[in-house]
Amino acid sequence: MLYIIVDGFFGDTGKGKVAAYLALADKPALCVRTGAPNAGHTVTLDGQQHVLRSLPTCFVNPGTKLAVAPGALIKIDVFLSEVERYGRGRSYLDFQTGVIEERHVEAERRDEYLMKVVGSTGQGVGAAMVDRVLRRLRLARDFEELKPYLADVPAMIHEHRPSGVVIEGTQGTFLSLYHGTYPYVTSRDVTASGMLSEAGVGPKAVDEVVLVFKAYVTRVGGGPLPGELPPEEAEKRGWVERGAVTGRPRRVAPFNMELARRAVLLNTPTQIAITKIDALFREAAGKTRWADLPPEARRWVEEVEEQLKVPVTLIGTGPEPRHMVDLRKEKGR
Ligand code: IMP
Ligand code: MG
Repeated sequence: MLYIIVDGFFGDTGKGKVAAYLALADKPALCVRTGAPNAGHTVTLDGQQHVLRSLPTCFVNPGTKLAVAPGALIKIDVFLSEVERYGRGRSYLDFQTGVIEERHVEAERRDEYLMKVVGSTGQGVGAAMVDRVLRRLRLARDFEELKPYLADVPAMIHEHRPSGVVIEGTQGTFLSLYHGTYPYVTSRDVTASGMLSEAGVGPKAVDEVVLVFKAYVTRVGGGPLPGELPPEEAEKRGWVERGAVTGRPRRVAPFNMELARRAVLLNTPTQIAITKIDALFREAAGKTRWADLPPEARRWVEEVEEQLKVPVTLIGTGPEPRHMVDLRKEKGR
């Protein structure tokens, strides 16, 4: 079984939490992270928040192997400290994973257009991607200290597929270099097909494409955000968030069906996950059964499903991975 997890908005929809839930519920043999350390995936365990920038949040299952895709990028210090903390003895890097160096970070932070207009996280990801395209980026295989982790990640995906593989996306559909709100986007295609190319697996090997939406929309950095609310209104609704990597306050808007429809068109999901439903319906907090959700929340989810014509199978009701209503069986997935 091969699952891929894609973000349907501008990042920060809770992919990390969805991946962590699947890791605990399905016990996949392998989880692969795409993307780069500009993205922080948050998982909360027993009230403590963990932000992962290189390894997949599936680390919550100690039996799952953790790998980084060939098309992904790492910063060596961030990767090694995450291995130490979350993935000792079960972390792998592809030979061809790209490495971000200090000069990439410096180049990006000097770039006023990127920092001020686009609102880059300044992690050197775009500058490293430029070097990759110009064929001068150094890869994981070029660094002595990374030797113990090197592996053929596409071969691992192929080998472990019968016992479960989860591929974790980064950022969100509308930050895609090709399909997003250019130029207010990140430096890679973060849609389902981009992720597959990064990981080294073809579309026919995928069993389930989970598209993740949050019950409201957030965005950090520049670019359009339809229906954007003033910060006071966001606060009143309890929708205030900060960037996991940069600490910047996130811009906020209500759930947007038009964007969601476009995300469905771009990613061809087989199922939809909706996180933070408790932010819209407080009585939903912590519930794990459909029947225990308040009727307004159930109606809201049914409306999303009807509009998007894709089953909503996973509904997040709180910060911990176990705060999830899982309807996959009921809906035949
Ligand atoms: P960069 O990819 O760091 O250059 O940032 C480009 C744009 O993508 C900026 O608007 C960032 O705020 C946004 N961005 C990058 N990574 C993330 C993320 O993980 N979550 C949300 N927005 C992100
Ligand atoms: Mg994030």
